[in-house]
Amino acid sequence: MNLKIFISVLIVVFVGTIFLLRSNDNGGNVMAETTGNKKVLVAYFSASGVTAGVADRLAKATGADLFEIKPEKPYTSADLDWTNKRSRSSVEMDDMSSRPAIANKVADMSKYDIVFVGFPIWWYREPSIIDTFMESYDFSGKQVVPFATSGGSGMGKSGSIMQKLAPKAKVDDGKRFSSGVSEADLKKWASNWL
Ligand SMILES: Cc1cc2nc3c(=O)[nH]c(=O)nc-3n(C[C@H](O)[C@H](O)[C@H](O)COP(=O)(O)O)c2cc1C
Repeated sequence: MNLKIFISVLIVVFVGTIFLLRSNDNGGNVMAETTGNKKVLVAYFSASGVTAGVADRLAKATGADLFEIKPEKPYTSADLDWTNKRSRSSVEMDDMSSRPAIANKVADMSKYDIVFVGFPIWWYREPSIIDTFMESYDFSGKQVVPFATSGGSGMGKSGSIMQKLAPKAKVDDGKRFSSGVSEADLKKWASNWL
C-alpha cells in the first residue's frame, strides 16, 4: 500500500516536471518568434541617387519594405546649389521651421516596429523634408534609426532633432555610410535592432 502511494507520487512529480519543462520551452519559442518577426520599413529621401542606392541595399539586407519620400516639388540642380545662399535648399535649411511638402504617404505606418530613415546630409543635418516626414506619422513605440550619405560629414544633430519632432518614437543617433557600403556591412549594422 505504502509502495503504491510512493509510486503514484513519483508519477505525479515526473509528469508535472515534464509539463513544466514543456511549457517553458513554448515560452522560449514564442519569444524567439516575436523577436524574429519585427516588421521593418526603410524610408528614404535622395536628391541625386546616392542615398537611394544605400537604402535599396539596406532593404534587401533586412527584408524590409522600401519607401521613397518624394517631394511634392522635385529639387532641380539650381535648388541644390549650396554655393548660392538664395537657392531653395539654402533657404529651407536656414529655417528650422521649413517643412517642404511630401507627395506620397506610407500606406500603413502602424504595422512597422522599426523604421530606418535615410537621407543625404545637408548643411550638417537631415534635410527639412525629413522633418516633414517625422511630423507626418504616429511613431509611438517605434524604433527609428536614421542613416545618411554625405560628402564626408557625420550625422551631426540629425538624430536628436528627429527625436524632438517625434517624441513618442525611440530615435537612435544613426550612422553615416559611404556610397559604396556593402549589403553585408549594412546587414551587420541593422542587426543591432532586428
Ligand atoms: C544642399 C546640399 C547640402 C549639402 N551639405 C553637405 C554637408 O553639410 N556635408 C557633407 O558632407 N555633404 C553635404 N552635401 C553632399 C551630400 O550629402 C552628398 O552628396 C550625398 O551623398 C547626396 O545624396 P543623394 O544623392 O542621396 O541626394 C550637401 C549636398 C547638398 C545638395
